[in-house]
Amino acid sequence: MKKSIRYLGLAGVVLFINLAWAGSASPGDQSDIDAKVRHLLRKMTLEEKVGQMTQLTLSMVSSGADGNQEPQSFDEAKLEAALIQHHVGSILNVQSTGSAFSVEHWHAVIEHIQDLATNKTRLQIPVLYGIDAIHGATYTQGATLFPQALAMAATFNRNLVRKEGEITAREVKASGIPWNFYPVMDVGRQPLWPRLYETYGEDTYLATELGSAYIQGHQGVAPCLKHYVGYSDPWSGKDRTPAIITERLLRETFLPTFEAGVRAGAPTVMVNSSEIDGIPGHANHHLLTDILRGELGFKGFTVSDWEDIERLYTRDRVAATPKDAVRIAVMAGIDMSMVPSDYSFYDLLIELVKERAVPMSRIDEAVGRILRVKYEIGLFDHPYGDSRLASAKKEVGTQASATDNLNAAQEALTLLKNDNKTLPLSRKSKVLVMGPNADLLSALNGGWTITWQGNQEQLYPKDKKTVLAAIRETVGDGNVVYANDLDFALQRASRVDAIILCLGEKPYTETPGNIDDLTLDPSQLAMAARLEQTGKPVILVMIEGRPRVIRPIVDGAKAILMAYLPGMEGGRAIADVLFGDKNPSGKLPITYPRAPNALTLYDHTAMEESEGNVYNPEFPFGAGLSYTTFEYSDLAVDHEAITKGQGLKVSVKVTNTRKLYGQESVLLYLTDQVASIARPVKQLRGFDKIALSPGETKTVEFTLKPRDFSFINRKNRRVIEPGEFKVTAGPLSRSFRIE
Ligand code: BGC
Repeated sequence: MKKSIRYLGLAGVVLFINLAWAGSASPGDQSDIDAKVRHLLRKMTLEEKVGQMTQLTLSMVSSGADGNQEPQSFDEAKLEAALIQHHVGSILNVQSTGSAFSVEHWHAVIEHIQDLATNKTRLQIPVLYGIDAIHGATYTQGATLFPQALAMAATFNRNLVRKEGEITAREVKASGIPWNFYPVMDVGRQPLWPRLYETYGEDTYLATELGSAYIQGHQGVAPCLKHYVGYSDPWSGKDRTPAIITERLLRETFLPTFEAGVRAGAPTVMVNSSEIDGIPGHANHHLLTDILRGELGFKGFTVSDWEDIERLYTRDRVAATPKDAVRIAVMAGIDMSMVPSDYSFYDLLIELVKERAVPMSRIDEAVGRILRVKYEIGLFDHPYGDSRLASAKKEVGTQASATDNLNAAQEALTLLKNDNKTLPLSRKSKVLVMGPNADLLSALNGGWTITWQGNQEQLYPKDKKTVLAAIRETVGDGNVVYANDLDFALQRASRVDAIILCLGEKPYTETPGNIDDLTLDPSQLAMAARLEQTGKPVILVMIEGRPRVIRPIVDGAKAILMAYLPGMEGGRAIADVLFGDKNPSGKLPITYPRAPNALTLYDHTAMEESEGNVYNPEFPFGAGLSYTTFEYSDLAVDHEAITKGQGLKVSVKVTNTRKLYGQESVLLYLTDQVASIARPVKQLRGFDKIALSPGETKTVEFTLKPRDFSFINRKNRRVIEPGEFKVTAGPLSRSFRIE
């Protein structure tokens, strides 16, 4: 029987998440677990406690000079040093090179570690293994790798995101791993940021809803909300560079996603590697303790990001010594250190406690939280999880999961331009396929695929289709000309009906993905411009993790399909949309800028559009065409006036006006007309994805809750101010009052 763990969130809403990763974990309630934790804590030495707070990388216990050899094997002396001499409580790994582990190898790794931890250590506390399963089980061979989060956001479909959570957790669990460093709850407000694609886009409400849906689906493996908080808005756009976010804005834009994640029951939180207003995330007591614990009511444990405690000394210089860095971080509220490549944290924290610079009560608090999570997920009863199940392998990369993955990729694809109904192309058309991303699976997947950077094309599965391969399969080899150089393409252009040009970015994540200019690579722009001059219809397929500026080639293109990073089934999905096997229904979860320095987001204040200021993105948030058309009518509110604390029902009719089945994401925006601070011109407050047969009409209903009318005021408090409001859906608006 599985057990459910309850967490009480800030708003008092209780959700349930099943953390127990081993199917038969014995049910235990919180008081039972608390008693076990207290009992165990009483038996522990200082060294054993600090060991629980220490997380190492697998390389630290593996053989080979850099410990990252392929295939991975253990160095027994190093493993004993970690688990027996240093009592280490958690291990993770990141695969920089070399292939992902097979399910069997994962099982061997987990078994070996747990054998030692649960038989040879004094207290037999199992190790909590953690992994980055970012768009699926990244480091498990044959895993189902979904569209990256930004693409998932474009589906505006909670069910698909929930499904992704479900399948990812199942495959991580089948690998024997109980903990996933995901979901990313950062709101993607900075288009230059190389991790934009790991977010659910620029809107807080959308990210909150989808992040929560992911967690609901992610059963049986502990999720980790990251990166708390404000990491996603670096002023310069570079990864791990400062953000300038006032507390008011932090509460308005960046905290609600984490608040929802805590409410959904996530038991762990990873900390922001960067700094806000000059205060490094790992040294921010106000955020890590006052707000996360005091206000959000988080009961789980926090883990640092990679090497980030040490960086308080080596980089940020808020600590005068490495030891002081440890003191600052632990006292700020960090419970576990992803050290991960030495024993400095362990040694220094023991010294700090002996010197009374860190009180034992703080250690007990941190260790208590870590042990509680280990109990809650059933790790003590089932340290091996699924790693002893012969059937586990069958859970990974199933045909059913591939189908769900394909659905997600299809629903993500966002048609941004379609002049003269260029798309869909007839299956009889002859096409020229070109561009740097036409024949690469790595480009479709991006970072966190098989390896950290995702750029090892040779390691990708042979049975998945690139865009080129999928188009060939759809229209037959004879109808496809593939060109990898421009001269050849120009020679052949006269003989084809259309040119499909796959542009965008190569894989990256974190600092290797930093850029100085959001403009698309000039050689790609030149290639597109030259092909557009041929007079043949050019269809741009943008395969990219962030919206690279394409102004010079937009007007000359007949159609533009935004593919984001659509994952392993992305090639198939793109061919399906191009040739009409699937009607596109994605909508942009971000603003697509027209120029590199025009980065205003959709929920700006009126100032951005007045007195000479123009708001004119290439494609706005929410843009996305279909091969059919949808007409909106009868937008209605159930009250002209409501009182503070009351909700509002809004309904709108949507009709499919053409002879083609299609799906439509119906987006509901709210505008607060007058307030004590300047409010956004509009903000997303509801969305629902519907399917409509030709001629069919459906009524979509939204229930706005009091919180939907609220905002953070000058005193950093969430308030509802009475006055005039407006809801908008499609081209329609309705006003109402709060009295
Ligand atoms: C990233 C985290 C990740 C961690 C472990 C860090 O560099 O910022 O998102 O979970 O590495 O791989």
